[in-house]
Amino acid sequence: MSQLKQALLDKISNGTVHVGIVGMGYVGLPLALAFVERAKVKVTGFDIDQTKIDALKVGKTYIMHMGADRVQQANATGLFSATADFNRLGEPDALMIAVPTPLTAQREPDMKYVVSTGEAIAKRLRRGQLVILESTTYPGTTDELLKDILERTGLKSGVDFFLAFSPEREDPGNKQFNTATIPKVVGGVDPDSGDIAAALYQRGLERVVRVRSARVAEATKLTENIFRGVNIALVNELKIVYERMGIDVWDVLDAAATKPFGFMKFTPGPGLGGHCIPLDPFYLTWKAREFGVATRFIELAGEVNVAMPRYVVDKVQEGLNEQRKPLKGSKVLVLGIAYKKDIDDPRESPSFELIHLLLERGAEVIYHDPHIPVAPGMRSWPDLPPLKSEPLTPALLKSTDAVLISTEHTAVDYAMVLKESRLIIDTRGVYREPHAHVVKA
Ligand SMILES: NC(=O)c1ccc[n+]([C@@H]2O[C@H](COP(=O)([O-])OP(=O)(O)OC[C@H]3O[C@@H](n4cnc5c(N)ncnc54)[C@H](O)[C@@H]3O)[C@@H](O)[C@H]2O)c1
Repeated sequence: MSQLKQALLDKISNGTVHVGIVGMGYVGLPLALAFVERAKVKVTGFDIDQTKIDALKVGKTYIMHMGADRVQQANATGLFSATADFNRLGEPDALMIAVPTPLTAQREPDMKYVVSTGEAIAKRLRRGQLVILESTTYPGTTDELLKDILERTGLKSGVDFFLAFSPEREDPGNKQFNTATIPKVVGGVDPDSGDIAAALYQRGLERVVRVRSARVAEATKLTENIFRGVNIALVNELKIVYERMGIDVWDVLDAAATKPFGFMKFTPGPGLGGHCIPLDPFYLTWKAREFGVATRFIELAGEVNVAMPRYVVDKVQEGLNEQRKPLKGSKVLVLGIAYKKDIDDPRESPSFELIHLLLERGAEVIYHDPHIPVAPGMRSWPDLPPLKSEPLTPALLKSTDAVLISTEHTAVDYAMVLKESRLIIDTRGVYREPHAHVVKA
């Protein structure tokens, strides 16, 4: 075994390993805290966003489901610190990269954050360091793109430094699983890198799933998200088919879910949301082109899911029509703008597309979300007017022509909404019993 490998494994096993995490967002921060709390090792969080660093330094959180107490406790251990000083990237023994991997306007992988992080690390890369990419990406990113950037230093991967990929499986708001208890898939660019990365995660997390290569690990993450995207598209399509037949898709799915094998329940909705499912599958589509193969399921699922907001807005229009009202000029309350239940993350939320379409058809749009007091500016919808969450009161509901339930939140009083509203368009199956003024969409 190489001396460098042995030295890192020793540091991992005796707890002196210093971990650096680049990108203190939804993925990086929980990962940093998991390593402090469970592995009890020194962790430095890096971010280009000084406001995040300042918040962490004074024990504040900017992620709803991550209590400030956890940041404070991590600070109090003396093991955790955060910095925007990238000159310090040479200090940690292991660097994990959790920066964004969005799509460009042409729906191609936008690797600029990974590239700039790789270049920042390369400037300070030293012998014996381990670098692990955590950002979701196409197979080959780690052992082509990142390896290339890091090897421009003259240091060689698998010899002078170690390189691996390990995808994140965060499920914000999930009370059953957290960063530490979700099994972690790890694959090295070479066997030594895989061994060291696996040993490191083993120290901080409950279960490590070692795979043969970084590419397998990259493809595993994409496969998981494609599986979700395709199945969500399927139930969205079934929703439309059954609705025409006068069958409630929610009744069907509840019943099908009683099958103890061979069925997994997915639920329909107003479209896809979040940073992962709407974007990640297209990373594979892009890479597949290089090999001359088409990803037809991904494209088809994308088509079905992207059409959902328009379907839902048509339902609002039809519901109002039944009440002899045009959508134009009607006041519509969008209820819930986070991309999913009980979280404060609005990224890629279909609610913004719904708001955009409603405004386009002349509706007056307001929203309520208990977790998002002010709707942030969204890159994909630059023309939306500034909106803030309206207090959800009987008076507000009475003055509203239609309520569009876009995201279900536990904190919302749906019984009150049912009682006080004139028309409800329910995209989340909140109301299972039929009501004359509730349209399922
Ligand atoms: N959010 C999730 O639930 C989730 C789940 C699984 C995988 N992922 C993947 O994890 C990656 C990170 O996602 P996220 O949700 O944590 O994003 P995020 O936007 O919450 O966090 C990314 C952080 O990286 C910082 N950053 C951007 N460029 C940087 C740079 N060059 N150097 C240092 N910091 C930089 C940003 O300021 C931000 O704080 C993405 O690839 C995403 O697809 C996210």
